[in-house]
Amino acid sequence: MKSLLGRAAFKSSGTLEVGSYEDVASEYYDAKLHPTCSDFRAASRYYLRKFFRERNPKGRIADIGCGHSLLSEFVSKDLVLVDASPKMLAQNSGSTEKRLIDLEKQKFGLSEFDWIFAVLADPFNSTAAWTNISSALRDGGRCVFILPSDLWASKFRSRVPEEQAGFARFVRADNSSIFLPSAVYPPEQQAALIASADMKLLVFEQVFVRELAQVTSPKISKFLAPEEAILDVYCAENAS
Ligand SMILES: C[S@@+](CC[C@H](N)C(=O)[O-])C[C@H]1O[C@@H](n2cnc3c(N)ncnc32)[C@H](O)[C@@H]1O
Repeated sequence: MKSLLGRAAFKSSGTLEVGSYEDVASEYYDAKLHPTCSDFRAASRYYLRKFFRERNPKGRIADIGCGHSLLSEFVSKDLVLVDASPKMLAQNSGSTEKRLIDLEKQKFGLSEFDWIFAVLADPFNSTAAWTNISSALRDGGRCVFILPSDLWASKFRSRVPEEQAGFARFVRADNSSIFLPSAVYPPEQQAALIASADMKLLVFEQVFVRELAQVTSPKISKFLAPEEAILDVYCAENAS
């Protein structure tokens, strides 16, 4: 059984029912059903708009865990889209190259990219993924890794009884709950994770609630004040 109705989703054995993005792909971008995803996406778009305006990244670019690629709004050539979910990858029309790859299990490039962007990358924030990011970057290539803020994840997941540390809970259109992996760490721990893949952390930035025109999700607005961070962003360089 993939999911259970009710407050949380547990197998009869008591273990958590963990799904994949295939299970939510058809409704992930429905802002009415999933306003939290929509707010995080708006905050990511806000960050990327500023990033592209100020730093103008050039060369061959990958959007990993692309879903319906936000990078496509900023990059028109030499872009490669990578995702493990056929249904998420299929949300991108047009001729941009697409690679169906689980990047925690397989390399998605070898010294190929000048820039790698990972937007809302908490489902694959692991040493295995960071090692494959390092392999896919050219010497001196950089990765911009955007996460829901650790402040938000720790407050929200510790205070709401239905939530679980290390997971994002999706309540789907049919009212069933499903848990998807979501790894978010405090900055020192995240820096150690990046270093474990021989990558050098260059910059840590945040997007704050007050910078956004609006926040629609009570799962965010009830837990974060305007001056608190909604996103943590890590920019790391291939140091190998
Ligand atoms: C939170 S969604 C974000 C999607 C998109 N970047 C956005 O901002 O709308 C995470 C995406 O990562 C993909 N993903 C999760 N684990 C992955 C893995 N191990 N390898 C590749 N993609 C993965 C999911 O299929 C999903 O499309």
